[in-house]
Amino acid sequence: IGGTAVTAQAENTGSTDSKGGSLDQSLVFDRDDFTEKTESIADASGVERSVTYRFYKARNYVTHPSDSAHQSLVVSVPVKIDGRTVHASSAPIVLANAVGGYMPSSVADAAGVGQTRLEMTGMGGGLPSGMPSGMPPGGMDGSGAGGTGAVNGMVNLGKLALVAGYVVVEPGTRGRSLTDSSGTYYGTAPAVIVDLKAAVRYIRANKGRIPGNVERIVSTGTSAGGASSALLGASGDSKIYEPHLREAGAADASDSIFATGAWCPITDLEHADGAYEWNWGTLPTQTTGKTVDRSVSKELQSQFAEYQARLNLRGLKGSGFGKITARNYDAYLLKQYLQPSATKYLAALSDSERETYLAKSTFIAWKNNQAAFTWEGYLAHVAQRKKPQPAFDAFDLSAGENNEFGKGATKARHFTAYSAKNDTTGLGGKRVDSDIPEKLQLMNPMFHLLEKRNPNRSKHWWIRLGASDTDTALTVAANLAMAAESLGDDVNHAYYWDKGHATNEDPGDFIKWVARVTG
Ligand code: DHB
Repeated sequence: IGGTAVTAQAENTGSTDSKGGSLDQSLVFDRDDFTEKTESIADASGVERSVTYRFYKARNYVTHPSDSAHQSLVVSVPVKIDGRTVHASSAPIVLANAVGGYMPSSVADAAGVGQTRLEMTGMGGGLPSGMPSGMPPGGMDGSGAGGTGAVNGMVNLGKLALVAGYVVVEPGTRGRSLTDSSGTYYGTAPAVIVDLKAAVRYIRANKGRIPGNVERIVSTGTSAGGASSALLGASGDSKIYEPHLREAGAADASDSIFATGAWCPITDLEHADGAYEWNWGTLPTQTTGKTVDRSVSKELQSQFAEYQARLNLRGLKGSGFGKITARNYDAYLLKQYLQPSATKYLAALSDSERETYLAKSTFIAWKNNQAAFTWEGYLAHVAQRKKPQPAFDAFDLSAGENNEFGKGATKARHFTAYSAKNDTTGLGGKRVDSDIPEKLQLMNPMFHLLEKRNPNRSKHWWIRLGASDTDTALTVAANLAMAAESLGDDVNHAYYWDKGHATNEDPGDFIKWVARVTG
């Protein structure tokens, strides 16, 4: 259980930030302002524990919120677990975002840990396909590990971290659907990352007031939340956010984090259309059952090939692969992730269950307790792509990501040259707007890792993906892993066999990983 006992009272009464500068009084964390709660929470093994904790209700993490209800956070500090006293004063701090679909999330009404509300209503045409409104925090595919702090079958990482003895901070964030009274979209890019950074700065500025070790902040998130978590990890202390953070009134402190947990990150958006066609281009769509336009697919695939070559990434150590290109990426994914994931899944079945599975999955050869199959066999097994074409920058501006790059009174915009050129909404084949290139840098962890080689990035990465997740290309997470490792970072990336979007099959391993890397 996290943290060493620290009994001395930290100096917590002043109002200095972590750099010794002055901290606005409204951002001073009042550590006496909590309610003590006791809840039964399942730990990572599914065992119910009685957890007594201090719950600090929503408070703003910026001095000039454009939206007070979203730019606030809650803090939960464990005091007793199954009657045993927990000393969390130097425990890791888990920053658990509940972002989904790049939509707003709020803790304004939260009365306990793990109650962040994700606002999926009114997503309209921008609904990431497959995500019903009212999706629980973290995603929609309920086939995660049962019992573990789960909401509707989903793993609730905030609860899970609390029952592990960690301090849990849950931030609300602005999201793409928000408009003010004049119809201006104020929650689109880069609002989500500005808000997460402001939350980190708030934690740091309140060192000694918020319990826990501010140098051991671990971020978690799933899907758009996984993308945001990865971006937070990659972009620590980057100057490019400074004007946005200043405008919001974020504390003057470092926003770097120690470790990053990212489940199925929907990131590298401006390259994801090409990657998607490379990965799933031959499959029929879930919605229409039809295959997509072959020539568009080919054009996008060739963009991916160029991009991947330019990245100049090598397979993870031990993979035996050198430079990964569009030509060997299928072999790399099979060897490094897909076959080992299927092997692990099959090995855990009883002999008769395995026989049944293999009898209906003839694409798998099972020899010497190892699963082997071809890329074509794997694709036929996945069977359908979830998204239309292009998957992220839709020609008709209907994708959620088009809204994420909205600005002012314009709800949705193109963010790739290709889709701007092929626009079907009457924009006349224009280029992307002039502010888009900078927005893409603000939103893409790959920019901070590969172009900036950001020294203040997180150095520990936990990245997970369902092997049947067609919300984005598998290469997006795999590239993120290679990019971090290319800088010398500690990377733990694996796939969950036969699992779809927003699944978490090994929450217990994640909690152990947090203990190990922060220890
Ligand atoms: C999410 C899913 C998507 O398919 C997408 O494009 C963006 C976000 C999500 O689940 O958060």
